[in-house]
Amino acid sequence: MFVSLEGIDGSGKSTQARLLVEALGEGTVAIREPGGTEAAERIRELLADPAVSLQPLAELMLFLAARAEVTERVIRPALEAERHVVADRFSDSSVAYQGAARGLGVGEVIGLCEAATDGLWPDLTLLLRLDPETGLGRAEGDDRFEREGLGLQRAVAEAYEEIAVIASDRVAVIDAAGSVEEVHERVMEAVRERSRD
Ligand code: TYD
Repeated sequence: MFVSLEGIDGSGKSTQARLLVEALGEGTVAIREPGGTEAAERIRELLADPAVSLQPLAELMLFLAARAEVTERVIRPALEAERHVVADRFSDSSVAYQGAARGLGVGEVIGLCEAATDGLWPDLTLLLRLDPETGLGRAEGDDRFEREGLGLQRAVAEAYEEIAVIASDRVAVIDAAGSVEEVHERVMEAVRERSRD
C-alpha cells in the first residue's frame, strides 16, 4: 500500500510518518518529499534555502523534478516488490502550496503532478488537520514556507480541506490535535480501515 501524509507546517506529520513506518514493519519504505534520491536531496536543499528566490512556477517545477525522480527510482520499484511505501508529503502538497496558496491553479497543478508521476496517486492519504496558529507555533520556522507566516498556512489549510472533498475516495482526515500517541492511534485506525476495503 502507498500511503502519504499531508498537512500544514507543524502538523506533526513527520513524527506520524516515522511511527507509521515502524508500525508497518520491516521492508516498509519511507520517503520524505522532496528527497529520496541524490538529485532530489539536492533539490530539497535549494528549495529550503531562504536566500534563494524562486518564481512560483520554477518552484513547482523543482518539486516536480524531485518527485519524478523518487517516483520512478524508489516508489514504483518498492510497490512492484509489494512493499508498503509511506511518503511524508506527495502531490497534494504541490496542489495545496503551489496550486492554491501560490495561485498557480489547482487543476493545472494536478495535471502537472500527473505528468511528473505518470499518474501515480497514493492509495491512502492521511490529512493531519490542525489549526494554522497551533501549527505555526510548533513548526521550526526555518524554511521559506514557514517564514511566510500565518497567511500562507491558512491558505494551505483551506486548500487541503478542498482536496479532502475532491479526493474523498483516498483522503482520510485525521484530527492532529492531541498527544503523539493519540494521533498515532487515529492514523492506525485509518490505515486498518483502508486495508479492510
Ligand atoms: P517539509 O520538509 O515536509 O516541511 P516540514 O517537515 O517542516 O513540514 O516540507 C518543506 C516545505 O515544502 C513545506 O513548507 C511544504 C513545502 N512543499 C511545497 O510547497 N510543495 C511540495 O510539493 C512539497 C513536497 C513541499
